[in-house]
Parts: sequence; structure tokens; C-alpha cells
Amino acid sequence: MSRFFLLDIPLVVAIYPGSFDPITLGHLDVIERGSRLFQRVIVAVLRNPQKQPLFSVERRLQQIQATTQHLTNVEADSFEGLTVAYAQQRHASVILRGLRVLSDFEYELQMAHTNKSLCPFLETLFLTTATEYSFLSSSLVKEIARLGGAIDHLVPPVVAQDLAYAF
Ligand code: PNS
Repeated sequence: MSRFFLLDIPLVVAIYPGSFDPITLGHLDVIERGSRLFQRVIVAVLRNPQKQPLFSVERRLQQIQATTQHLTNVEADSFEGLTVAYAQQRHASVILRGLRVLSDFEYELQMAHTNKSLCPFLETLFLTTATEYSFLSSSLVKEIARLGGAIDHLVPPVVAQDLAYAF
């Protein structure tokens, strides 16, 4: 397990893995709260050849960077392959995930157990998303934008701008 101590305070690095296609205000809420709990938070975008994303990984990283520039202990990065392998490579000891509604729980629990079986020293920690974003998902945002609805209250300005051009 990778743990470093500075003045007896454990230096905990957390990775927040996901698709982030695109980042929403729900994601940002988890990132901001995570940045207050951990010394470093790495927002890790999965390079997934199986999926057809709306935004390229590079654009998603730019969106995340623009959205989190006020948080000095947060960085955006991309990875391929297993989340646990990437976490170990980055000396992270925590996988951070957001929990919105009960229906998230089954999938998240399965992932947490799978990751635990692959890497017992890595802990998955969940933050319940803020109530006002509990219904929010990247897919929903894309659908609303595609159908011409308002999304300014759901995504950061850089994403709202990108979505306006995407459809
Ligand atoms: O934002 P998402 O799409 O819900 O994120 C899912 C993600 C990227 C966290 C998950 O698919 C993942 O960890 N993929 C990497 C492959 C992996 O490690 N699989 C085994 C654990 S489920």
C-alpha cells in the first residue's frame, strides 16, 4: 500500500475514475468535496475503445481542467486498462466515487468488490452527491442538449458552450 506521512498526517491520494462525457456539476461537487478530504485528487478519464463518446478524451480533460482550476490539489489525467492498476501507478490508496440514487448502488458495490478482490489495499470511498444533483447524469445532459433544452444549471460553462456547438 502506498502511504506517505508528512508530520504524522497520512498523505492520501485519491483517484476519481469515470467517463466524464462530459463533466457535470454533480461530478464537480464530488471533486470539490474530495479535494477537502484528500491531499490530492486525480480525476481519471478512462480511455475506453468500447464506447463512442461525444467528446474526445483530450477535450474532456480540458473541460475538467477548466472546471477545477480553482482547486490546487486536483489534477486531470487519462488512463487505459484497469482502474486498480492505474491507482497503483499513481500511488493512490483511495478510489473515489459518487453515489446518487439507490439504483447506482448495485453497480457501484459490484465495482468496489471487484476492485477490492484485485487490490485489497485499495479502498473505495463513496460520497453521496448533493441533493440538487441527485438526478443528474452525463447521458441526461447530452439528451437535453440534443433536444434543445437548457443545461446551464447542470454543467460548468465550458461544457455548456461545447454542448451548444456539438448539436
Ligand atoms: O463514469 P463511469 O462510466 O460510470 O465510470 C466507470 C469506470 C470508468 C469507473 C469503470 O468502468 C472502470 O473502472 N473501468 C476500468 C476497467 C476496470 O477496472 N474494470 C474492473 C472494475 S469494474
